[in-house]
Amino acid sequence: MELPFAESFKIKMIETIKKTTKKERQKWIKKVNYNLFNLRSEHVFIDLLTDSGTGAMSDKQWSEMMLGDESYAGASSYYKMKSAIKDLLGFEYFLPTHQGRAAENVLFSVLIKEGDIIPGNSHFDTTKGHIEFRKATAVDCTADAGFDPNLIADFKGNLDLNKLEHTYKNNPIEKIPFVVVTITCNSGGGQPVSMQNLKDVYQLSKKYGVKVICDSARFAENAYFIKIREDGYKNKSIKEIVKEMFSYADAVTMSSKKDAIVNMGGFIAMRDHELWKKASVYNIMFEGFITYGGMSGRDMNALTQGLYEATEFEYLETRIKQVDFLAQKLIKYGIPIIKPTGGHAVFVDALKFLPNVPQSQYTAQLLGVELYIEGGVRGVEVGTLLADRDPITHKNRYPKMELLRLAIPRRTYTNNHIKYVAVALKNIYDRRTHIKNGFKIIYEAPIMRHFTVKLEKIDK
Ligand code: F0G
Repeated sequence: MELPFAESFKIKMIETIKKTTKKERQKWIKKVNYNLFNLRSEHVFIDLLTDSGTGAMSDKQWSEMMLGDESYAGASSYYKMKSAIKDLLGFEYFLPTHQGRAAENVLFSVLIKEGDIIPGNSHFDTTKGHIEFRKATAVDCTADAGFDPNLIADFKGNLDLNKLEHTYKNNPIEKIPFVVVTITCNSGGGQPVSMQNLKDVYQLSKKYGVKVICDSARFAENAYFIKIREDGYKNKSIKEIVKEMFSYADAVTMSSKKDAIVNMGGFIAMRDHELWKKASVYNIMFEGFITYGGMSGRDMNALTQGLYEATEFEYLETRIKQVDFLAQKLIKYGIPIIKPTGGHAVFVDALKFLPNVPQSQYTAQLLGVELYIEGGVRGVEVGTLLADRDPITHKNRYPKMELLRLAIPRRTYTNNHIKYVAVALKNIYDRRTHIKNGFKIIYEAPIMRHFTVKLEKIDK
């Protein structure tokens, strides 16, 4: 008999989580105006809100914590991180930041001016936020395949080269400082970008003199998909693939809370010394001195070790197979999800799941609230609330897909937890035709409203 798949780690320390009752959950979620971000975490049984900063560190990462050098300037932890970034990603220069959006803030302060245009593949919300905050425009050049939840394709995060070239040709090129390639593409369902596409985007952009910046939060997961799906990479190591991926980028922003498996941290890395010099000024202003940038020495050590672990095939296989395990359960129950599953999360198609709730009533948010009430499981809306209003017309932007994301923290939950989540969703699916009324907004912030929005149930 063929031996079944098993995780490439065992557990050394545990954290207790508590079950709650449906009645309690109904009360708590109403009290926070149906905003899942505002729940207390102890009221959540299984937390799939995000895979960001929620992973479990390894014994080696914890031991690195003890070796952190907390010197204000020139800490050995900084040099450790610098050499890992050179070794694994191939970038000569880097700046530590406290998380991914801080890296965006620093780098975009150098590169973006009012009126600029920043093409990309379904920019992540903080990326878009930092672009729009500077009165620039994010242009989505994702290939059409990325918008079709039923299409099985290997690299649905790819950019459409025609859309990208059209953007380059039809705008003053000096208004396009860079294109941002998000790997994997979070907003598009955690879908990977192929090596070929990375190469093509880079070559096209070089032709027009446009920089390529990779938003690299889940770069290692992207490399895993290249290895198992793209011709010519089967026999390459993840580390070799990662090196090649970044040879097609001028700079990266990184949220280390994902593929460096730490609870907090980030960085910018680049080839150009001039860019590094300019970014250093903002780093000192916003983050901290250039050799710590908002991180303590111990965190830089754990991050460095995390980068090496996240680029091990066995680790990635364990992780991505768990995400797929949830997907297969949901598919078995007939629940509509985006296929194929991305690297870090399963995305449920809320408009198909709840056919009686219009998008204008925030269908995916409603599904998230139902899942919380059903089983104490917390997911996150990736739909109309997240899409925010158009900065000019102030009208709701209705995205092509209205999704509930179930993000799986790294090395945190067992497959029994995953089975529990699947059954909780199935129970809702079985009674879906009775679910009719969604929400209306009673408070929203002018930008990134989903974090603080307050909602009220619509009573027909
Ligand atoms: N880029 C991508 C692709 C992301 O997914 C995130 C964060 C960021 C940038 C910003 O990084 O949180 O460290 O400031 N994504 C989290 C998520 C929040 O839940 O998907 P950050």
